[in-house]
Amino acid sequence: MPDVSVDPLDRERQDAYAISAEFYDVLQAERDGARVRRLYSGDVGNARLGVLDVGAGTGLVTVMSLLGSQVPVHAVEPSRSMRSPLMTRLASLPAGLRTRVTVHPQMLDEAGLHGVADVAICHNTIACLRPASRRALWPAIATALVPGGVLLVQLPPARLPQYETTHDLPTQRVGQHEYGGRMVTSAAMNRIRARFDYWVRNEGGVLREHNETFWMWPASRTKVIGELEKSGFAPLPERADPAVLAVRLRRR
Ligand SMILES: C[S@@+](CC[C@H](N)C(=O)[O-])C[C@H]1O[C@@H](n2cnc3c(N)ncnc32)[C@H](O)[C@@H]1O
Repeated sequence: MPDVSVDPLDRERQDAYAISAEFYDVLQAERDGARVRRLYSGDVGNARLGVLDVGAGTGLVTVMSLLGSQVPVHAVEPSRSMRSPLMTRLASLPAGLRTRVTVHPQMLDEAGLHGVADVAICHNTIACLRPASRRALWPAIATALVPGGVLLVQLPPARLPQYETTHDLPTQRVGQHEYGGRMVTSAAMNRIRARFDYWVRNEGGVLREHNETFWMWPASRTKVIGELEKSGFAPLPERADPAVLAVRLRRR
């Protein structure tokens, strides 16, 4: 009898994105899609073994990697609410493309991936990890990569914000409804609170409103490099966009 787990995820992990998953793509995918192409498409095009997308979310990096390479793609996404739009995005692809992508519904360190990729991408994932979880991720990525493999990490904010900041997400029309949202960030002790407010309106006014709060942990580039070095990574030269850190797994 194979060891088939019915539901290996605890409720908190499943639900962390329960509200945002509905709004993520409609409010952010267009701009983020262009961003991930700009940040990573060159690296993905160089992949010769496989691409690992750590914290795949709704699949923007996953699909960009499929389209931009000829190699297998591993999308790791533990949250059920984010994995649902990811699966819908993959289901809309031609079957031939889909044979190259595998979705792993666990945290990376539980997914049992060994030497499957020569390019790994952590886009918009690290900031939301507690320091202990962040430190636990690096050895798991080192295991999933082959020696000489490259890891691209979108860095967390380097420090706590001094002031509360509001960032409006561009509104989007879907039929008779307008979708909108904003992110409000502020410092809370040693963390950053990021509250997302979402709303749906029609001509008559607001139909519904929701919000969801995420926590982020700042970490400087130097600190992240120090953590990665302990797992066998060496920094590569600074990239055009300093928001992304590139490191290479040393050959043992
Ligand atoms: C803010 S979302 C970003 C998703 C996607 N990378 C994007 O930019 O659209 C971060 C994702 O990382 C996932 N995640 C958190 N910890 C993880 C881990 N240890 N391994 C893999 N994924 C993880 C979360 O479930 C979440 O979907």
